[in-house]
Amino acid sequence: MSLANIFEEYPERRYIMFGGKGGLGKTTFSAATAYHLAKSGHRVLVFSVDPQASLSDIFERDIFGKGPVEIVPNLFAQEIDADQHIRAYQDEIRQKILDMYGMEEVPEEIESYIQAAAAEPAMEESAIFDQVVDIVVAAEYDYYIYDLVPLGHALYYLSMASVYDEWIDKITDLREEMEEYSKVASLIQRDKELEEDMILQELLDIKYRINTSSSILTDKEKTAFFFVIIPEEMALIDTLKAADLFAKYDVPLSGYVVNRVIPPGLAQQNIPEYLRNRLKMQEGHLARIDELFGEQVLAQIPEFERDVTGLPMIEKMAEAMFGSITEPTTAPSKSVEGANP
Ligand SMILES: Nc1ncnc2c1ncn2[C@@H]1O[C@H](COP(=O)(O)OP(=O)(O)OP(=O)(O)O)[C@@H](O)[C@H]1O
Ligand SMILES: [Mg+2]
Repeated sequence: MSLANIFEEYPERRYIMFGGKGGLGKTTFSAATAYHLAKSGHRVLVFSVDPQASLSDIFERDIFGKGPVEIVPNLFAQEIDADQHIRAYQDEIRQKILDMYGMEEVPEEIESYIQAAAAEPAMEESAIFDQVVDIVVAAEYDYYIYDLVPLGHALYYLSMASVYDEWIDKITDLREEMEEYSKVASLIQRDKELEEDMILQELLDIKYRINTSSSILTDKEKTAFFFVIIPEEMALIDTLKAADLFAKYDVPLSGYVVNRVIPPGLAQQNIPEYLRNRLKMQEGHLARIDELFGEQVLAQIPEFERDVTGLPMIEKMAEAMFGSITEPTTAPSKSVEGANP
């Protein structure tokens, strides 16, 4: 199995993620994969949930907070602006308070509470999470490529889905139980009951949204999760630890991609001693990678002569990852659902 044929082999894997330590090439691979799939005729969205998003850098376009921006035909890129989403969320809460209590203005103490809550770091995470759910639930693309943040955060994101889920389960159970009791006792005032039903409805709604997005993240059939590694000692150790953690959250692993491999052929040329040493060390690390991950290594990507920014470099990267692209002559089908592997 290679990167090149994995998407042809498994057309139902429509949610693609590159995970790994910081700075190894997740954004680069996400952009190049999006480019490759779009050129092959699919409608693709690559989106970033990183507050320090770098899709703008790699595509050399300012896309932050602008929604999905079409980069080349069929390739859309989006950088989520969490602050913008938090502000919209605050407005929504204010409106709900006004509607629910028939007020003209939000009382000052409540307003300061709304302000304080927005400053919580968890608020940003949850705003991002919410946007991701919106994007995925809308189902407007053939492929979704998540430009993930470094390991720790991606894990936080996944664990939050399961914590939320448990929490909401508990509350809805409790709420449903209460409803049973209140039917028997019929002691609770009617409008109080209505209000609580609204809350229950909202909780069930949140639960549906969270389940939809986290079930996608952990669905072997629909998700392709790749680990990016480089042939260096520290990166290997961290990757082994991370792979363990991801396995705990049932993230299905599709394989490893080794980035920044110095072309071994250089050893045959007249090269400085220091480069020869680097190549020698790399040889050891590549052997170790082979020993650890063997068949799971899907591709080795060379170290380029410069950073990967701008479409010509992205195209070059896509070719290194997938081989050259044969553009489709006929319009491909939009739906890949129901296809058999
Ligand atoms: N094969 C390569 N050859 C040359 N430069 C590369 C290669 N792969 C990645 N780079 C460069 O390395 C830098 C880091 O890559 P990238 O931003 O994709 O990493 P990342 O894993 O997304 O980082 P972060 O964890 O910060 O999001 C970028 O400047 C990118 O252009
Ligand atoms: Mg990145």
